[in-house]
Amino acid sequence: MTLEEFHSTCSALAADAPALIAAVADLGAWGDLRNALVGRTSGRLTDIMSALGSLPKEDRRAAGQLANATKVAIEELLEKRRAELAGAAKTISLSDPTMPARESWRGSVHPVSLVIDEISGIFRELGFSIALGPEAETEWYNFQALNFPADHPAMELHDTLYLEGGGLLRTHTSPVQIRTLQKYPPPVRILAPGNVYRRDFFDATHSPMFAQIEGLAVDEGISFADLKATLTHFAKRFYGASKRTRFRPSFFPFTEPSAEVDVEVDLGDGRGLRWVEIMGCGLVHPSVLESAGVDSEKYTGWAFGMGPGRIAQSRYGIPDCRVMFDSDMRFLQQFAK
Ligand code: PHE
Repeated sequence: MTLEEFHSTCSALAADAPALIAAVADLGAWGDLRNALVGRTSGRLTDIMSALGSLPKEDRRAAGQLANATKVAIEELLEKRRAELAGAAKTISLSDPTMPARESWRGSVHPVSLVIDEISGIFRELGFSIALGPEAETEWYNFQALNFPADHPAMELHDTLYLEGGGLLRTHTSPVQIRTLQKYPPPVRILAPGNVYRRDFFDATHSPMFAQIEGLAVDEGISFADLKATLTHFAKRFYGASKRTRFRPSFFPFTEPSAEVDVEVDLGDGRGLRWVEIMGCGLVHPSVLESAGVDSEKYTGWAFGMGPGRIAQSRYGIPDCRVMFDSDMRFLQQFAK
């Protein structure tokens, strides 16, 4: 080979290389092209290198430098293209449209909270605000202030969970009546949702902890007519305008007279239309007002207490109350919107 021939072989390779390198579309094709251009054992540059030996001695040095410069230039182009292809490969795998989507999960409101929210909404329209009280109570707020006689059976160990040091876990939300009346002068209209505790077995219909909602209205001139009208209105808003309600005489130490409210509903459980008890209620006993420091000659009031857990069970057809405490996603997710 003459020096001229050597020159033209080198420049032909230098001229071809950029287009060839630009044309490879993936890393596999890039590897093949690199072998074809600058591969160690074969490839166009290797051919050029081995042709060096056939050149006249005085030309070899210049020819060697030319061959080297060509090699360096081609390797630079190859490396640039390799980096481009590697970057593109990464982008493609991240936005791969055939990749399965990551499963999305939305939290849901617990059925008991759904019922509490709905009930609160109805009473909010009637001017009731939300009041809260502590779950660890004193005997006085839970019993004495609510006119329980000292020997009332509910105060015995089998019903009430007592705390070390004399307190107890409230057995109902009624102590919030006292706490509210001590803090705010009438007129008072409050709704007090919260958890209560009783020494009960944990079975399909009982749990040692459950939710209650207390309602209380105290003002001048409040009568049983206010109680009846408000609770009937509530039942119709919650269960449907056509539903009938009935008030049955009952007894609570902190109300006089006292009643249970039933609503006539078909719960869709195959048992048809029937009366379902939804709450206890009554006119606030004068001695309850007095223990909270309210003048019972001037003010009267009414109160109710209901169990949103029971209401959720009947509304959503939940036969066993324990699933409401299990945090089982298969149950809870049925309430996700
Ligand atoms: N505190 C009563 C209970 O837990 C319910 C109730 C509240 C009844 C207010 C009348 C008035 O059973």
